[in-house]
Amino acid sequence: MEDIKINKKRFERIISRTEITMAVERVASKINKDLKKKNPVFVVVLNGGFFFGSDLLKLIKTDCSYEFVKASSYKGAKTTGKVKFDLGFTESVKDRVVVIVEDIIDTGTTIEAIFKELKKVKPKQIKVASLLMKTEAYKKDIPIDYVGIKVPNRFLVGYGLDYDGHGRNLQHIYTMINSNKR
Ligand code: IMP
Ligand code: MG
Repeated sequence: MEDIKINKKRFERIISRTEITMAVERVASKINKDLKKKNPVFVVVLNGGFFFGSDLLKLIKTDCSYEFVKASSYKGAKTTGKVKFDLGFTESVKDRVVVIVEDIIDTGTTIEAIFKELKKVKPKQIKVASLLMKTEAYKKDIPIDYVGIKVPNRFLVGYGLDYDGHGRNLQHIYTMINSNKR
């Protein structure tokens, strides 16, 4: 399969667009079952969750709405451990069932920070949907209700995920060659 180069690093394809589509469909059908008539509000975590959120929401059959939150903790291929974000809404999630939509759960630092912040605005319930999850790297207790694909603890790029701002637009998902650690 074809390798690609980003910022002088080589990446190989590990998840195809077809596999991504099937994972998105699986997550959507579970959410459609679980949250039927619950009028959920999806909170899409930018920038990475944009592609997943866009594809997922088009498959949601129950009445719903969505908001965005912008979070970042990565610099290059390493997490900084500090999450910065901006919750630009409050009224729209109060007393609602909220589904946080993430691209990937790694250590869990980001999702925990967003979860805690969202809790302050008193939603009825908070669920988490992530396209990808590095199960071995996860260190937190927050349940990840909907996981599209479990992935190894390696740095990934494509379909919303970036390497230093590059590669988000790729339709398949790639992993860095010669690096089993991020
Ligand atoms: P966590 O806070 O360690 O769970 O990291 C989660 C966030 O870091 C995700 O929302 C992604 O934006 C980013 N991230 C984690 N792993 C990767 C990766 O392999 N490639 C690109 N971004 C990643
Ligand atoms: Mg993210």
